[in-house]
Amino acid sequence: MTFASVLVLNGPNLNLLGTREPTIYGSETLADVAERCRQAGERLGLAIDFRQSNAEHQLIDWLHDARERVHGIVINPAAYTHTSVALADALKAIDKPVIEVHISNVHKREAFRHHSYVSPIAEAIIVGCGTQGYVLALERMAELLKANEQRKREAGQ
Ligand code: DQA
Repeated sequence: MTFASVLVLNGPNLNLLGTREPTIYGSETLADVAERCRQAGERLGLAIDFRQSNAEHQLIDWLHDARERVHGIVINPAAYTHTSVALADALKAIDKPVIEVHISNVHKREAFRHHSYVSPIAEAIIVGCGTQGYVLALERMAELLKANEQRKREAGQ
């Protein structure tokens, strides 16, 4: 039984997870991460729509499509975190909670990774927890969405 749906969106190069810089990103593949998210979703009552693209326009189109369809967004924008005003604008256009995830601790790395266009929009940010960060984000998202439901019930909506 699910009570909400969550889009888990992954940006460029994350399709190479498992083979790309494994000392930084670990040995799990993106398919492993998708499976972990699906299992977490089952446990938490969340329907998971897990996607990845290397194309900025595709990520933006999926976000537009998600505006009316999902209750929350977990996003690892990868390198677009640090560059894309367009992706940040698309996230701003959605009135749903956003949680930003980074597998590595971006603050321990190059200075250009310290700035995020997404963080000011995000309800929460999880960095440096490896791929477990996705599961932590979904756990937090379930809490946020349950609290939203409760508030709505109390307001009689
Ligand atoms: C990343 C960190 C980004 O700086 C980088 O460009 C990525 C992955 C992470 O998950 O640690 O592609 O978002």
